[in-house]
Amino acid sequence: ALYGEERRNSRGINMNVLDQWLPLQAELKNWWDKQWQAAPLVGGNRLAGEVRKVMCPYQLSHQVGEVVWASAEQTHDAIDHLSAAFVGWNATPVDTRAAVLERTADKLEEHMPELMALCTREAGKSLQDGIDEVREAVDFCRYYALQARQRFATITLPGPTGESNEIYLQGRGVFACISPWNFPLAIFLGQVSAALVCGNTVVAKPAEQTSLVAMRCVELMHEAGLPKDVLALLPGDGAQVGSVVTSDPRIAGVAFTGSTQTAHIINRALAARDGAIAPMIAETGGQNAMIVDSTALPEQVIKDVVHSAFQSAGQRCSALRVLFVQEDIAERVLELLKGAMAELNIGNPGYRATDVGPVIDAEARAGLQQHIDKMKAAGRLIAETPLPEGLDGYFVSPVAFRLDSISELEKEQFGPVLHVVTWRNKDLDKIIDDINATGFGLTLGIHSRNEDTAEHIDARVRIGNVYVNRNQIGAVVGVQPFGGQGLSGTGPKAGGPHYLLRFVTERTRTINT
Ligand code: NAD
Ligand code: ALA
Repeated sequence: ALYGEERRNSRGINMNVLDQWLPLQAELKNWWDKQWQAAPLVGGNRLAGEVRKVMCPYQLSHQVGEVVWASAEQTHDAIDHLSAAFVGWNATPVDTRAAVLERTADKLEEHMPELMALCTREAGKSLQDGIDEVREAVDFCRYYALQARQRFATITLPGPTGESNEIYLQGRGVFACISPWNFPLAIFLGQVSAALVCGNTVVAKPAEQTSLVAMRCVELMHEAGLPKDVLALLPGDGAQVGSVVTSDPRIAGVAFTGSTQTAHIINRALAARDGAIAPMIAETGGQNAMIVDSTALPEQVIKDVVHSAFQSAGQRCSALRVLFVQEDIAERVLELLKGAMAELNIGNPGYRATDVGPVIDAEARAGLQQHIDKMKAAGRLIAETPLPEGLDGYFVSPVAFRLDSISELEKEQFGPVLHVVTWRNKDLDKIIDDINATGFGLTLGIHSRNEDTAEHIDARVRIGNVYVNRNQIGAVVGVQPFGGQGLSGTGPKAGGPHYLLRFVTERTRTINT
C-alpha cells in the first residue's frame, strides 16, 4: 500500500487504490473544458482550410475543439516537402534520431493528464484506457529507440585481402503512416516513431475522428526536438487524403492500421502506381475467439471474458467476439456471465467507476445496433446490460448472444457485443477449423487446465497472438509483440523485435582498399 496500511471501505473497496487516483483526478479537472485545435502541419506551418467542429462522443452538445482538414493540393505539397527533407534526416546519426523518441516519451509522461483528458473527450476512452494509451505510446518510443540503436549498427563482412565489405540499414524515403481512432495516440505514435527512427520522413494521416490527439502528439514531438520538416500531419477524409497519399509514386512504404476493407483498398492503390514497389504493413481487424474447456475455472474465465469483450466498449481489434464453452460447464459460465454483465457501469468515461463508455460515433452505433436488432429478432439474446437513463451519447448496451457457429458472423462487430457457442468434446477440431475458416487471425484465448488441450489448439490455429488462461487484450510493447495473419494483417508485429525491419532498406558497401 502506497499510503501505509491497507484500508478498505464498507463495500470492500481498497481505499489506498482510490487515494492514488486523487492527485491525477485533481489534475484532470484542469483539462475537461479545454478546446484543442488541429490543422495540416507541413514544415512546422499550420495550414488553413475547411474547419470542422469536434464534438464529444458522450456529451453530444459539447465541443472539444476544431480541426482543419487537409486538401489534395496540400497533400501533394507535403510529399514534395518530405521528399526534399529525406536525405538530411536519413544521414542524421541513429543516436540523434533515437534520442528524439526518448525525449518524446518524457514529454508524454509530463503531459499525461492532458493527453488522458483529450483521449476521453475526443475518443470516449475511460480513464484506465487513457492511462494505458499514454503508457503504450511511451513504451513504443523507448522500445523503438532501443531497437534502432541496436539494429543500425554496421555489420562488417568477410572479403578477400584488399576489399572491405559491410552491410547497414537506411531509411526508405517518405513513409505514409495511416492510423485508426481506437488507439489515437499509441498506434499513431507507434507507426510514426518507428518510421522516423529508421531515417524516413513521414506523412501521417490520423483517423477522421481523432485529429486533436494526433496534433497534440506532433506538437510534443517538436518540443522534444524533432526537426519540423521531417513529419507532416494531414488530418482529413480517409478516402480523399488517404488515396492521394497511397497513389503517389514517391511514397516508399505504408504503415496502416485499420479495417481489413481499407487495407485492401490501399494495397490495390499501391499496386496500381508506377513508382517504386513499396512495402505495406497492415494491422487490421479480427473475429477473435476464446476456447474454454471443461477443466477451466469458470470464475477466472468470466473475469477474463468480461475484460476481453467489454473493456474499451469492445473497440479493440484484439477484443473477444466469440466465446466457445464446453457444454459441461456452459450453464455455470453463462450464469456467471449474466451476473458479471449486470454489474457493468455504463456512462461518462471521465468517471473512475465507469467500465463501459460510448462507441466512437453515430455510424458505429448504428452498425452495431443493426446487428443487435437482428440477433434479438432471431431469439439469440443471452444477456444485456441496460443503459442508464439520461445518457447523451453514442452508447451501446453490452450484450451477449447465442450462436451455433462462428461462421454465422458476416463481419467484425466492433463494439461491446459478445457471442457464445457451446461445444461438445468431439467438436474441438471442428471449431478450430471454423475459427481458421473465418480467414482472420488476430487473437485467441484458451482456458484449460489440461496442457495437452491447450497445446493441441495452439498447434492448429492460424492466429498471431494466443493467450492461455488469461484475458486476450492489452498486449504490452516488447513483451507481447502484437499483430495478426491472414485477413488480420501482414506483420511484422508492432512492439516486436522485427518491426523496424519493414521500414528500412539494406545497403551493402564494398570498397577496394
Ligand atoms: P478505417 O479502416 O476506417 O480507418 C483507418 C484509417 O484509414 C483512418 O485514418 C482512415 O482515415 C484511413 N482511410 C480510410 N479510407 C482510406 C483510403 N481509401 N485510403 C487510405 N486511407 C484510408 O478503420 P477505423 O474504423 O479507424 O478503425 C477500426 C478498425 O481498425 C477495426 O477493424 C479494428 O479491428 C482495426 N484495428 C486493428 C488493429 C491491429 O493492430 N490489428 C489495431 C486497432 C484497430
Ligand atoms: N494492442 C492492442 C491490444 O492488445 C490492440 O489490445
